[in-house]
Amino acid sequence: MKVLVTGGAGYVGSHCVEELVKNGFEVVVFDNLSLGHIEAVPKEAVFIKGDLANKKAIEQVFNEHKFDGVLHFAARSLVGESMQDPFLYLGNNVINALNLLAVMIKNNVNKFILSSTANLFDEPKTIPIDESAAIIPGSPYGESKHIIERYLYWLDRIFGFRYTSLRYFNAAGASPSGERGEDHKPETHLIPIVISTALGRRDKVLVFGNDYKTRDGSCIRDYIHVSDLATAHILSLRSLTKKSMVYNLGSGSGYSVFEVISEVEKVVGKKVRYEVGPRRLGDPVQLVASSSKIKKELGWKPKYGLEEIVETAYKWHKNNPRGFA
Ligand SMILES: NC(=O)c1ccc[n+]([C@@H]2O[C@H](COP(=O)([O-])OP(=O)(O)OC[C@H]3O[C@@H](n4cnc5c(N)ncnc54)[C@H](O)[C@@H]3O)[C@@H](O)[C@H]2O)c1
Repeated sequence: MKVLVTGGAGYVGSHCVEELVKNGFEVVVFDNLSLGHIEAVPKEAVFIKGDLANKKAIEQVFNEHKFDGVLHFAARSLVGESMQDPFLYLGNNVINALNLLAVMIKNNVNKFILSSTANLFDEPKTIPIDESAAIIPGSPYGESKHIIERYLYWLDRIFGFRYTSLRYFNAAGASPSGERGEDHKPETHLIPIVISTALGRRDKVLVFGNDYKTRDGSCIRDYIHVSDLATAHILSLRSLTKKSMVYNLGSGSGYSVFEVISEVEKVVGKKVRYEVGPRRLGDPVQLVASSSKIKKELGWKPKYGLEEIVETAYKWHKNNPRGFA
């Protein structure tokens, strides 16, 4: 199979490209490098620098390559940024995806995997969150993914277009190969922040609230290893023939902020300095995925737990003090 990977120079996308290449896929990466790193793209993949805002550039890629499917990672994905600048999300994220989808339809390419998000579920009624949970996006970022999911629903009904929407919870960890890892600038994700602090590259971790109704007062999140995410993409792509699918994707276990800090201390063998600050507006208390559906239907099984997530991420950050720079 030959696939197009948008955002393949980014964190999740590049790990997915690594796994696709390992599994014999021919891969073309399309990325504007606004947030990603050319060094993250495996050498076996063809790299094209381009922006999804430019429909002509997408058309050119489809004129040059015949694809069996598309994996769409390219997007902005910061909840806080989307609250400050909704146009970037409800505008650009959505329009860029539509540019891509329109070119796919025109070229009769009808297999699509969307990187969706747990931010579809603001304050869920039950934990773990399965696919029947009410969709109440927590921000314009989550709303942008919801709008794209709705477009996909209609493209399926009208054109027989097939898609899988993978709503992932917190992607974390680094490739066990040691060749790539997480390098967001600025970094907003907990695990790399705690590791940087343990490595002495940050002063302290700011914990947003310790008075939630949880076992230790801090928020609880579900961390999924980025290579397990990649496997889910490949299984989804291979099974995408007869019907479109939507899956929630996490490890099924929730860890509090303090538990993550303890795990990093254990792996690194050092105490991590932290300070408790006020709650952050709009932070749900607890987000844990039920991934029963993808396990049952596609046989997906996460290989890595929190310990391996922290170990692989630690190895990457220790060996790459400046990320890909
Ligand atoms: N990281 C997570 O925990 C997480 C969780 C849920 C969902 N997601 C989704 O997964 C996807 C990837 O996330 P990530 O953490 O790897 O992000 P990332 O920022 O590391 O990667 C995004 C990539 O897309 C590229 N890009 C952005 N806009 C583009 C455009 N207009 N044209 C071409 N390329 C463009 C960037 O240069 C970057 O390489 C996103 O869609 C995000 O919403 C991520």
